[in-house]
Amino acid sequence: MNVLNTKFATEMVGTIANMYRLGWNERNGGNLTTLLTPSEVEEVLSPKQVLREIPLNFDAKPLAQKFFMVTGSGKYFKNVENAPTEVLGVVQVSECGKKLNLLWGLENGAVPTSELPSHFMSHIVRLQQDENHRIIMHCHPTNLIAMTFSHSLQEEEITKTLWEMSTECLVVFPEGVSVVPWIVPGTNEIGKATSAKMAAARLVIWPHHGIYAAGCSLDEAFGLIETAEKAATIYTAVCAQGGKKQTITDSELNDLGKAFGVVPRKGILKI
Ligand code: 13P
Ligand code: ZN
Repeated sequence: MNVLNTKFATEMVGTIANMYRLGWNERNGGNLTTLLTPSEVEEVLSPKQVLREIPLNFDAKPLAQKFFMVTGSGKYFKNVENAPTEVLGVVQVSECGKKLNLLWGLENGAVPTSELPSHFMSHIVRLQQDENHRIIMHCHPTNLIAMTFSHSLQEEEITKTLWEMSTECLVVFPEGVSVVPWIVPGTNEIGKATSAKMAAARLVIWPHHGIYAAGCSLDEAFGLIETAEKAATIYTAVCAQGGKKQTITDSELNDLGKAFGVVPRKGILKI
């Protein structure tokens, strides 16, 4: 079997194509990394056949020997279906955690996303929360980014607004959204800030830039961003229509949490 015929590659290509069609990934915007199981990889690749070594400038030791499918830096999500072997790669983290062994893809000298520090540091933190964790997704959804200019960046306030804008939000992300300060992208510093937030929430907003999501599946990470961006789009429309005249009350949001068996992040609902 060929890598491109595997379930993981097919799902990755399909998800990236959907992200692009939704307008979340202009040009080379956004990146995606998927933790693969050894059996998924070894069915189609030999970890001994290393095409290239790629140095890391941060410590990935907690991920030693783990396999990932990653998107390449500077690669356009628009092109994933036509040029999957250039846009995507399969890598294994070395034993020492200081380099990657490229096993497949990233053709023509491509390298993994410049946001690898944020992705790998977030994978480390999410695996500590949930052994089934698999996905880190980053993209640039328009309305969520717009909200980071017009709305308070206080996590409790932005979470509350998103919960109010659509009934499904509290059920989909009861832990709310986290927000890091504006930090230069691609750095270890933004990786540390993002991953620290990932301990408590699967959605982390990068003001004036985009959003990160974590999930146990591509559908989970995609669905988190899709739901948050839908709420942000409703917020945009509500503001354009002149603002709220009524809303879902705190007590109704609390009832919603109880009905769906989720615990809303503390300190947001005043009941
Ligand atoms: P890469 O092309 O290196 O993945 O960067 C895109 C991006 O969104 C940076 O935040
Ligand atoms: Zn970005």
